[in-house]
Amino acid sequence: CGIVGYVGSRPSQDILLAGLARLEYRGYDSAGIAVIDESGELGMRKKAGKLSALRDSLTDAALPDGSTGIGHTRWATHGGPTDVNAHPHLADDGKLAVIHNGIIENFAALRSELEAEGVTFVSETDSEVAAALLGREYRASADLQQAFRAVVNRLEGAFTLLAMHENQPGLVVGARRNSPLVIGLGEGENFLGSDVAAFVEHTRNALAIGQDQIVSITPAAVSVTDFEGNTVEAQPFEVSWDAAAAEKGGWPSFMAKEVAEQPDAVANTIRGRIQGDAVVIPELDGLDELFIGINRVIITACGTASYAALVGKYAIEQWARVPVDVELAHEFRYRDPVIGDDTLVVSISQSGETMDTLMAVKYARERGARTLSVCNTQGATIPRESDAVVYTHAGPEVAVASTKAFSAQITALLLLGLHMGRVRGTLTSAVASDAVAELQSLPEKVAQVLAEETEHVSQLAGWMADTRSVLFLGRHVGFPIALEGALKLKEISYIHAEGFAAGELKHGPIALIEPGQPVFVIVPSPRHSSLVHSKVVSNIQEIRARGARVIVVAEEGDAAVLPYADEVIRIPLTGALFEPLLAVVPLQIFAMALATAKGLDVDQPRNLAKSVTVE
Ligand code: G6P
Repeated sequence: CGIVGYVGSRPSQDILLAGLARLEYRGYDSAGIAVIDESGELGMRKKAGKLSALRDSLTDAALPDGSTGIGHTRWATHGGPTDVNAHPHLADDGKLAVIHNGIIENFAALRSELEAEGVTFVSETDSEVAAALLGREYRASADLQQAFRAVVNRLEGAFTLLAMHENQPGLVVGARRNSPLVIGLGEGENFLGSDVAAFVEHTRNALAIGQDQIVSITPAAVSVTDFEGNTVEAQPFEVSWDAAAAEKGGWPSFMAKEVAEQPDAVANTIRGRIQGDAVVIPELDGLDELFIGINRVIITACGTASYAALVGKYAIEQWARVPVDVELAHEFRYRDPVIGDDTLVVSISQSGETMDTLMAVKYARERGARTLSVCNTQGATIPRESDAVVYTHAGPEVAVASTKAFSAQITALLLLGLHMGRVRGTLTSAVASDAVAELQSLPEKVAQVLAEETEHVSQLAGWMADTRSVLFLGRHVGFPIALEGALKLKEISYIHAEGFAAGELKHGPIALIEPGQPVFVIVPSPRHSSLVHSKVVSNIQEIRARGARVIVVAEEGDAAVLPYADEVIRIPLTGALFEPLLAVVPLQIFAMALATAKGLDVDQPRNLAKSVTVE
């Protein structure tokens, strides 16, 4: 869910709605705001559906405005996406408003406790329980901060909670436990947000709030305490991207813009990390023991980031000669894995807030492992919980389906593999300098794929708008790209799609092939291994013989695929481990064009949210 809070001297509704618009990628099945108006009364409006439904409702019937307010955009957990289940939730006879992100695990017990005292609930949410509890505490103390402290200490689970009371206008209180919240510092006004996108158009000065901390903002001051009320120092940081970076510009969708930004995402992630012929990541300066003292790496992530992780496995093993396992974050910590201080756990997350991944990092630390995160969002929780962080510099990614962040993650993992290889002494200088040259030419090559294939692939997608299922095959680092191609298609075009390791075909998936079945095949370069190449070409022959419609992604000049391909998509020549950065681009374009051909919203696909901050 997305959360925004404001106190200052300006009318807050537009600020809240603009903040929610920037946070909508966090959830978009309902939205609401509460405002304490000029006369000191609290007003609230909430609506099921996308933010536009709330906007329309406010246009139809205005809510009195005022300069203290909170807003919420929801991704439903407890209770379906209805008006009633939307946030804010009110208590104390409508004088108190609360918004919440996360899951309150002991909500059932708290609900019974309150029901026994005569409280009646109107929604099915755990959040309303927090509101009611705060109402009870407020009636006891008539002090919002004190009441809020009492409440957060009763809650179990994960939460970001924001509240305000009409008796204390000009004050918004917030708390976080395993769920994101940052402060934006303005002049005579202050902000709270799930992330900096909530307030970046007003200020780039931010404060990060730690776990289990409470914040109070007024127009003039910000204070942060722990759950006991002891003052703590919050860590200031400056937001490096400006508001324009998170605007759609002239593009039809954020996804289209972000796909097109991939040359920059790759270039910006490389920038400052090459010295002469070697990769040197300055953030890892002085942390050599992180890479030397280990004999095992586990990369953990979810979704698209987990496919970047698979590419990272090939790169790190090849260059740094240390065994690497990739594990989905939500599987990792529930199976008693063998880890200790000889293990480096690398986590990958665009948002830096994915709860599954965060929990895996915490678990790894508790078990004594070293932790390093690859993250695209400054001040996010996962990097704060890690021993070291390598930021991807993709800029803000707004479309739910990840594209440029994925490219930046792969780039960062290639850099990490080369950095580790140098530190561990497993990389010859010839290999290192070849890799560096290859890295430097990548942005240009990604741009070339975009320039040469966008129209071709979009046309292909247009012809295939009625397709019910698409398969993707790849081998070596093409395998994770097959998985990613399938995921993109599922996410935004709602078409059944599956990615397979090409070698696995004959062990099962080939049974799915029937005449007309579209299959994308990512063909590895014959220059790197003619053996692997020829095996994939054989796979193509096998599916073609059974009637598949074969769409090949192959490097320029690879003629071996021509006799069996219905369509050939070309990518420039590059090193074996770099091919994913080029091969993924046409698959992203394909998914986007197909979703568009079906008339779907590519930025906000049904049922999904970009930042999943519940486990
Ligand atoms: C969600 C999104 C995916 C994303 C995954 C990991 O499931 O819908 O697109 O890949 O989370 O997100 P992260 O922010 O951790 O990279």
